[in-house]
Amino acid sequence: MRETAASSTGTARSMGTDSVRPLVATDFAALRQTIGGWRRAGETIALVPTMGALHAGHVALVARARVLARRVAVSIFVNPTQFAPHEDLDRYPRNEAADIDLLDAESADLVWLPSPALMYPPGHSTRVQPGSAAAGLETEFRPHFFGGVATVVLKLFNQVGPDWAVFGEKDFQQLAVVRQLALDLDLPVTVVGEPTVREADGLALSSRNRYLSSEERAVAPALNATIQSAAEAARAGGDISLIEAQAAADLVARGFAKVDYVAIRDALTLKTYDAGAGREGRVLAAAWLGGTRLIDNVPIAA
Ligand code: PAF
Repeated sequence: MRETAASSTGTARSMGTDSVRPLVATDFAALRQTIGGWRRAGETIALVPTMGALHAGHVALVARARVLARRVAVSIFVNPTQFAPHEDLDRYPRNEAADIDLLDAESADLVWLPSPALMYPPGHSTRVQPGSAAAGLETEFRPHFFGGVATVVLKLFNQVGPDWAVFGEKDFQQLAVVRQLALDLDLPVTVVGEPTVREADGLALSSRNRYLSSEERAVAPALNATIQSAAEAARAGGDISLIEAQAAADLVARGFAKVDYVAIRDALTLKTYDAGAGREGRVLAAAWLGGTRLIDNVPIAA
């Protein structure tokens, strides 16, 4: 029987029958008991924060975490504070049982599965205001987003107390915001970015890809192809504003309904990119296929 970590007052769940991994903690008592045991044994911990609906991209994060630390904890929490009222919180894919089976197969040690009421009990009102990494790009279109992400990530770090935390590069600006959060608030955690996992046709894996119709799915790889071309043009020293505008026009021509942005930036600061400066750049983009918003980014080598 798979082990379940829960206090006597907690909402324990037993998810499976054939393994002692992973533990599933649904309350603070169970979480602290497990983490405390690991710490007393001198074990290191890597955390992979997720919103569930796990796919091969998450598997890569878990694999990286496994290399970094003795123990791997994965949180699954669809964080309401990073969704605006008109966004897809209600329809965001949820499949905890399948997620836990996958994490079992990937030898995660702990699944931290808090409820919204546990994470944000009535009266909860503190919000983290993210730093300069959150300026522009996603924030122009989802102004609520990084405040919600920074708040929940800080809470997860406080709850789990990891030595390392692994995030996907697919959410490149999010990774920058979390790195800045850890640095600015002296959090004793090393934030690690893991490269994006893609389908064979270049589409970045995302839990939201399952919203795409078959027609939209056929168009979707054009996002990656277009920003790859933009990266090559930027590296070759082309005019950045023109390349950005051309890439946005190409996306519309290839079937995207709307382009929120195509932006060519310095990979470290997310500010202006200068091909002559010998620094790594990044092309970041967000565009809509029907009602689905896709984001992607690719590097520009130094
Ligand atoms: O990238 C995500 O899945 C989420 O934004 C995160 C980091 C788990 C915070 O809710």
